[in-house]
Amino acid sequence: MRSFFSILGALSALSSTFANAATIGKPVFFHYLIGTVYDEHCQQDILDARALGADAFALNIANDDAAWSLNTTSYLFKWANEYNFKLFFSFDMTGFSNPDQFTDFLLSYVTNDAYYTYNGLPFVSTFNGGASTYKFGQDSVNDGWKVALQDVMSNAGHPIYFIPAFQDTTALPDYFTNDFPTLDGAMNWNSWPFASQGDIIVPTTDDQTYLTAAHASSKTFMMGVSPLQFKHIDSSQNWYRRGEQNLEYRFGQVLSLQPDFVELQTWNDAGESHYMGNSWPEPIAGTVEGAYTDSYDHTGYQQILPAFIKAFKAGATNTDTMFPTNGANAQGVFWHHTLLANADCSADGLGKPSGIETVEDKVTAVVLVAEGVTTYNVSIFSNTDTLLGTTKLVPGYNAYSVAGLDTGTVVVSVEDTSSGSEVVKGTGPIAVSASVPICLETMA
Ligand SMILES: *[C@@H]1O[C@H](CO)[C@@H](O)[C@H](O)[C@H]1NC(C)=O
Ligand SMILES: *[C@@H]1O[C@H](CO)[C@@H](O)[C@H](O)[C@H]1NC(C)=O
Repeated sequence: MRSFFSILGALSALSSTFANAATIGKPVFFHYLIGTVYDEHCQQDILDARALGADAFALNIANDDAAWSLNTTSYLFKWANEYNFKLFFSFDMTGFSNPDQFTDFLLSYVTNDAYYTYNGLPFVSTFNGGASTYKFGQDSVNDGWKVALQDVMSNAGHPIYFIPAFQDTTALPDYFTNDFPTLDGAMNWNSWPFASQGDIIVPTTDDQTYLTAAHASSKTFMMGVSPLQFKHIDSSQNWYRRGEQNLEYRFGQVLSLQPDFVELQTWNDAGESHYMGNSWPEPIAGTVEGAYTDSYDHTGYQQILPAFIKAFKAGATNTDTMFPTNGANAQGVFWHHTLLANADCSADGLGKPSGIETVEDKVTAVVLVAEGVTTYNVSIFSNTDTLLGTTKLVPGYNAYSVAGLDTGTVVVSVEDTSSGSEVVKGTGPIAVSASVPICLETMA
């Protein structure tokens, strides 16, 4: 079912002029799922991420003894070396049960020239691993990781910089002084509200807690940034976490909080629908993820990511300096769902995802406007020509969201009000629908 999934319309083509952006300043990563990815697609992913200004891929790996996993990893390292890009592992603890399953593998890569280091140490992260089941024979989770990973790596002559995303723990002020004293830092994976929190702007409560706790203990904080989360795989994996009031606020939240690292979630996770890079067909061919992401191209987000990455690296504390990066006077992206919130999906065996009650029939546009340009307006249309709203644009960053999304094609247009001429326009590639009797089959 593609139903509740955002799609994007790009307001102009991505420029290649960012291709040689220097990756200095604060580090920015993309979370990258290791699946079967062809050699030439690994090459393309690295070229594309580098062109956006990112420093590295956080390679989510859940299996290091399958040929596809080893092959994709080796292709990525080959191309990262070729293009001076960096990679580090984010061990997925839904796939591993003990670091002893991956320490030899990690040791085989930490000396690779393309392995990302911080303060001279190989950078290592995780997804999950903080729950009480991850003690690995020690008395605490902290000591489990210390003995089974950190000490093993140190004893092998390769001490690591360990900054896990223990999303299975709670952000607490004494996170580092009490529960996890030997971590080097923490990532907040949860960059989406939970449905139980209602129709709110993506909160920063946990980010602030981790950041304050980390800096008080001379540790670091990595903040997650993601557009939405929609999973529609089976009855235990069928949920939506709000994309409304998320990404368009998250940039400003990051710049104001000033985390030490940013991890964009994700480059290619089709299952959770939050990919911002290429979602290649080979890892999901014939799967339900392949069906519900088919033809939903998310590379439109890349219109605005370079300006954000540049601002973060430059130490900006707000979005004011997020100007177009393609040389144009206006550049942007818009997103919306392709089924209305109350759409009929009765014949979809999985049913509507949990969290569906937080879906809003809205269109959100982010438009970057060049310095000194003060005469532009943006208008959002539903069903091709039904005007939902118009607003004046300011130089720099503009985020605009309107209610009233209806069936048909979404169009977003930027006009120069001094001349009445259209500056740039985007047309949604997939029309909005209100009733799809058999969601999965008809839309796949
Ligand atoms: C992995 O790479 C080897 C060597 O190139 C190749 O023979 C094999 O078919 C690949 N396996 C998979 C599953 O991609
Ligand atoms: C531009 O937008 C503003 C609302 O922000 C509106 O008052 C004005 O009429 C618009 N101008 C044109 C030419 O549409």
